[in-house]
Amino acid sequence: MTAAAARVEIAPSVLASDFLHLGDAVRAAETGGADRLHLDVMDGRFVPNISFGSPIVEAIRRHTGMFLEAHLMVVAPEDQVTTFAEAGADLITVHAEVSPHLYRTLQHIHDHGKRAGVAINPATHWHAVEEVLDLADLVLVMTVSPGFGGQEFIGQMLPKIERVRAEIDRRGLDTDIEVDGGINQETVRRVVGAGARVLVAGTSVYGASGGVDEAIRRLRETGSAGLAT
Ligand code: DX5
Ligand code: ZN
Repeated sequence: MTAAAARVEIAPSVLASDFLHLGDAVRAAETGGADRLHLDVMDGRFVPNISFGSPIVEAIRRHTGMFLEAHLMVVAPEDQVTTFAEAGADLITVHAEVSPHLYRTLQHIHDHGKRAGVAINPATHWHAVEEVLDLADLVLVMTVSPGFGGQEFIGQMLPKIERVRAEIDRRGLDTDIEVDGGINQETVRRVVGAGARVLVAGTSVYGASGGVDEAIRRLRETGSAGLAT
């Protein structure tokens, strides 16, 4: 089965939640039917912001059975793979821009029995992941410049998503395509139409006036409608 035939998955990013009540945010995603939880790790070097590290991932792991994905926005991510694997992440995503030995790093993640993802910034050509498509379980196409939640979706990323989707389908792979940044009711249908299947959403889930459950349900509904188009 190719990923193109798969359903859409919603991955709330706790970055947009109230960190003083992180446990509530995790539970809300779980009871709201999220498919996975997106954990944004920022080091203040690869991106300007510092968010949280492996102790928080470990704490979340102790309290949920949800699939946890660690999006490592850090320099030298290869040095962090073991730490985040031991903290309990199920998927570890590293950025191509800071991974000169990307092939080996993805293998290293697999050696830990984890799923391996590779992310590319808006300014990075999709060719940066072309040679590792067969090895990666997931390609994360950033739809904002990483570092902060609540930014505006960059529409020029849609052709990039389409190109990655075309190549994955051409090779008959089941590599997931994830998008991250500015995903909401307006943009979700466009990214799914372009070929994305895993949708990260921070502000549009945790900042939703109708609550987390409702936001996840609506994103999934609108995204799934985009599958048919
Ligand atoms: C941005 C992070 C995102 C962020 C998305 O650097 O990688 O995961 O939480 O936030 P929204 O959905 O608010 O754009
Ligand atoms: Zn992220």
